[in-house]
Amino acid sequence: MRIYVTRAIPDAALRRIANALPAARLEVNPEDRTLSAVELREHARGADALVCTLADRIDRALLETLAPRLRVVATFAVGYENIDLEAARTLGVRVTHTPGVLTEATAEIAVALLMACARRIVEGDRLIRAGEFRGWKPLGALGHSVYGATVGVVGAGRIGRRVAETLRRGFGCDLLVYSRSRRPDWEEELGARFVDLDAMLEGADFVTLHCPLVDETRHLIDAAALARMKPTASLVNTSRGAVLDEVALVDALRRGEIAAAGLDVYEREPRLAEGLAELPNAVLLPHIGSATHQARNAMGRLCAEAVIAVLAGREPAHALV
Ligand code: DGY
Repeated sequence: MRIYVTRAIPDAALRRIANALPAARLEVNPEDRTLSAVELREHARGADALVCTLADRIDRALLETLAPRLRVVATFAVGYENIDLEAARTLGVRVTHTPGVLTEATAEIAVALLMACARRIVEGDRLIRAGEFRGWKPLGALGHSVYGATVGVVGAGRIGRRVAETLRRGFGCDLLVYSRSRRPDWEEELGARFVDLDAMLEGADFVTLHCPLVDETRHLIDAAALARMKPTASLVNTSRGAVLDEVALVDALRRGEIAAAGLDVYEREPRLAEGLAELPNAVLLPHIGSATHQARNAMGRLCAEAVIAVLAGREPAHALV
């Protein structure tokens, strides 16, 4: 049996696979970069199991090349918009992902970005390093308080819930939620109000995105949506870059249509929309939502268990297909 891993993942996960399947040939891409489509196809050829990342495009053409030998694709991510699930289903390839174990890590980054926008933390850091701190002043670097603010949450999944809880319980925020389905537990436990997108955008002091990228959420936050936000509001995105129209965001930030944006994800990663990196009111992180030792080890463990289960003929946990 051959298992191909497209990118180095935590050692413990590789050891777990090697121990459980000692006769299998386990190969890991030795280069610290995403493979091109051609490289991926060549390296994965003849694999019984593929461990991939969100940066690998697992499309029908690739799956047709690798099936029927390929039995499982275990993606080292919770998001799976890079995988053609329908093709996998018709070709009999199982697909698994890693939900649950990166909820806290990603929620932390969303709250950190929200705070950084609210209190202009990165701007302040830059000012100090540029030697421009001339001492305390009454009107210097004023931001917006998070305490008691109204927060708009897009998407009522696990990560959105953790962010909502943190801001409600820790900061007394009011919650406006836009989501496909209404969640009575959010209403009862967090006092959240489920509203339509326009009402959420117009009422929120902070908007934080936690929905998956699907056809209906692509560019959900476009120029018109940004124009509905308060000029004092900040937007945070830790979901997927394409939920937001990044070019429209650059325009909105430039024109002061909104106060700030905190982004961990981008439409064309690792590229950024032109002008974004020059904006002082944009806080930009390199897709590190799940980048804690704890979360990444747990993600590795779930991938390893999925591969082991499928190759042993068992049902994997967290199967998408
Ligand atoms: C995911 O898992 O989908 C995140 O974006 C990266 O951990």
